[in-house]
Amino acid sequence: MIPKVRKAVFPAAGLGTRFLPATKAMPKEMLPLVDKPLIQYGIEEAIQSGITNVVIVTGRGKTAIEDHFDVSFELEHLLESKGKDDMLQAVRSISDMVDIAYVRQREALGLGHAILRARDLVGPEPFAAVLSDDVIDSEKPCLRQLLDVYEYFGCSVVALMEVPRDQISAYGVVAADPVPHSGMDGRLFRIQDLVEKPKAEEAPSNMAIIGRYILTPEIFTALDETVPGRGGEIQLTDGLRHLLRSRPIYGVKFEGRRFDAGDKLGFLKATVEFALKREDLGDPFREYLRHLTV
Ligand code: UTP
Repeated sequence: MIPKVRKAVFPAAGLGTRFLPATKAMPKEMLPLVDKPLIQYGIEEAIQSGITNVVIVTGRGKTAIEDHFDVSFELEHLLESKGKDDMLQAVRSISDMVDIAYVRQREALGLGHAILRARDLVGPEPFAAVLSDDVIDSEKPCLRQLLDVYEYFGCSVVALMEVPRDQISAYGVVAADPVPHSGMDGRLFRIQDLVEKPKAEEAPSNMAIIGRYILTPEIFTALDETVPGRGGEIQLTDGLRHLLRSRPIYGVKFEGRRFDAGDKLGFLKATVEFALKREDLGDPFREYLRHLTV
């Protein structure tokens, strides 16, 4: 029997230097896309994929995240007394969303280190990891696409996306062989190797790892044994490379559009596209854009 994935880890303790000064006192995961913080999009994706427990790894600005998902009695009372039922519903639904536990990463020692901090709360079971600054707009939630593959093979699965060669050095990159599998249309791969941020000429392919993972619990031992790299950081890609020695890892070229909302330009693109799709904002916003001189 392949064990069910119940939990998702959300690392949110990075320094967010690409988004300074906005991220000086607030994690980038709290930046709002239209009217919801990035991390809420990620949590909604996880819930829609069947996840029931969330672990958030926090660093600076921890209270902003905790407060966002907590009950706010004063705000609810105020909205109630003013008869703002829609707003009240929107605010309540956030705190009712899912069971959330928090763990602290005191120093930003890399994504792999952040995942290791969740070890006690996850326990010996498979789990999902979601980097909420990668916002993915898709019909079927990206995490669900990965879970379908996990539920078939029972192995770790990473999300993959083709990126132009001149941008490849910003990513973890895989060498991978296609695996024929019904309904996957050439989108399923068996990973042969992984490299973190290779030089363009040394990249083993143009397929980059995007921030959605299903990880089997052996990743914790693998990360424990991973030697920290530059700046004392433990990279998840290096941990996965270690894991690959003993377990197969699969990759899925997911269906959907990904925005790098941790980057200013990516964030702006996501804001425009998400606003255009909104029922309440789409038409007036489109109208506004039409009149811009660009
Ligand atoms: P990034 O690679 O985007 O790094 O992290 P960053 O530090 O957050 O941002 P920049 O590059 O300085 O602008 C990818 C994910 O891993 C988390 C981040 O919060 C983000 O979700 N992370 C990264 C941690 O939780 N801890 C770390 O030590 C590093």
